[in-house]
Amino acid sequence: MLVGWGGNNGSTFTAALVANRLGLSWPTRRGIQKANWFGSLTQAATVRLGDDIFAPFSHLLPSVNPDDIVVDGWDINSLNLFESMQRAQVLEPSLQQQLKPHLQTMKPRPSIYIPEFIAANQKSRADNVIEGSKQEQVEKLMSDIAQFKKSSNVDNVIVLWTANTECFSNVLEGVNDTAENLKLAIANDHPELSPSVLFAYASIAMGCTYINGSPQNTFVPGVLDFAQKKGVFVTGDDFKSGQTKIKSVLVDFLVGAGIKPTSIVSYNHLGNNDGKNLSAPKQFRSKEISKSNVVDDMVASNDILYEPGEKPDHVVVIKYVPYVGDSKRALDEYTSEIMMGGANTLVIHNTCEDSLLATPIILDLVILAELFSRVEIKRESWSDEEYTGFHPVLSILSYLCKAPLVPPGTPVINALSKQRSCIENIMKACIGLPPDNNMTLEYKVPFLMKEVTAEPKTKKMKKIENGRVY
Ligand SMILES: NC(=O)c1ccc[n+]([C@@H]2O[C@H](COP(=O)([O-])OP(=O)(O)OC[C@H]3O[C@@H](n4cnc5c(N)ncnc54)[C@H](O)[C@@H]3O)[C@@H](O)[C@H]2O)c1
Repeated sequence: MLVGWGGNNGSTFTAALVANRLGLSWPTRRGIQKANWFGSLTQAATVRLGDDIFAPFSHLLPSVNPDDIVVDGWDINSLNLFESMQRAQVLEPSLQQQLKPHLQTMKPRPSIYIPEFIAANQKSRADNVIEGSKQEQVEKLMSDIAQFKKSSNVDNVIVLWTANTECFSNVLEGVNDTAENLKLAIANDHPELSPSVLFAYASIAMGCTYINGSPQNTFVPGVLDFAQKKGVFVTGDDFKSGQTKIKSVLVDFLVGAGIKPTSIVSYNHLGNNDGKNLSAPKQFRSKEISKSNVVDDMVASNDILYEPGEKPDHVVVIKYVPYVGDSKRALDEYTSEIMMGGANTLVIHNTCEDSLLATPIILDLVILAELFSRVEIKRESWSDEEYTGFHPVLSILSYLCKAPLVPPGTPVINALSKQRSCIENIMKACIGLPPDNNMTLEYKVPFLMKEVTAEPKTKKMKKIENGRVY
């Protein structure tokens, strides 16, 4: 269930689900284009299992097939999903027409609109809202979730926030600092509770995993305390789709190569409704915070280059330019210190439909959150130990998040390759395979090389059984 279902991400995700399920294709200037999930780790990437054997991520463990996902959701705007897709101007018109009969019957449920939390420029969209006190609003969300679960007959409901970025909430003692206080604050209609906090609360109360795709601090201590007490999974924050993803690769490479990034300057301009909302200072501030800490772990890993506490200059600018629509521009300048005081400057210009980057990430978040919510672990040597699941803060999904939420007191990993290895190696461990150490000694040590070449080579995995790859 998507919060912000009628937005660019929500409508593009829904269109992609239907187009892939129906195997649609459509004409473009370059020929016929078929629906696909390029950009999705689970649907379009592979994992190396051994000597020249690669398997799709989605084949490693039993995971949800995107075709089986039923989508529903809320939006403060009443347009149906066909109209939302048209407004988004992301997909080709001929594809939109094929999707029309499927999407025009989908209509977002009314949502919670509290003007103080999103930009004033969003006011005209709010024509589909739940009235009443905060207690009544939370109860309505809970009954929506129950009603959807019953009518769709799905096994599991996941709630994902892809609505507009809110401003940060203040963490107040006695209000949103513990689960009990949060419950009381809802009953007392406290003004500091944002719509996203109310959604997270309702979702956790219903036992549904809650994912935050935007930068605001929905996960105030009271929400995290509630998730922990109920044993419900939460993950976020903010989809890692474009500029930050590149940053978490490039800075990792530079610092790992012994080169010292000294200044990183990132400009963005975009013309979609997300950009319009982010043109308001408080909402921009939420995004700025989420984008700003992404190089910290990489810088802190190398005290040959950096003095304790030293960081590169890092500036992020976002401007709203309506003409470019969803085709977001990200311009980045990385200046680094190289040998003997030399300087090296790299400039990147990244142009892309924002929602086509975010949609596969939404799919992966949902599929992997569902998968990891079913994984249980125990120590081999502790025979009387019970199996238990992961910590409710599902930091395994950091790969997909700009500002990863981690269990209190644990380190934040931003480097993309480490985040990917985490997912890959945990999945491999589940089927009894060792983590990939990339030593590939079978190609380097003569007596091992003989052994490998003596065996017939399998190019494609056929099956995995009892931890062995066939
Ligand atoms: N597209 C990307 O690449 C990307 C990357 C990272 C994060 N995000 C975040 O994802 C979010 C959605 O992006 P988008 O491009 O789809 O924006 P959008 O403005 O097109 O869609 C947001 C939708 O949320 C609705 N909405 C606002 N407040 C609501 C509420 N309280 N309840 C229900 N609906 C509400 C709006 O009416 C709108 O339809 C933004 O916060 C954005 O910052 C997007």
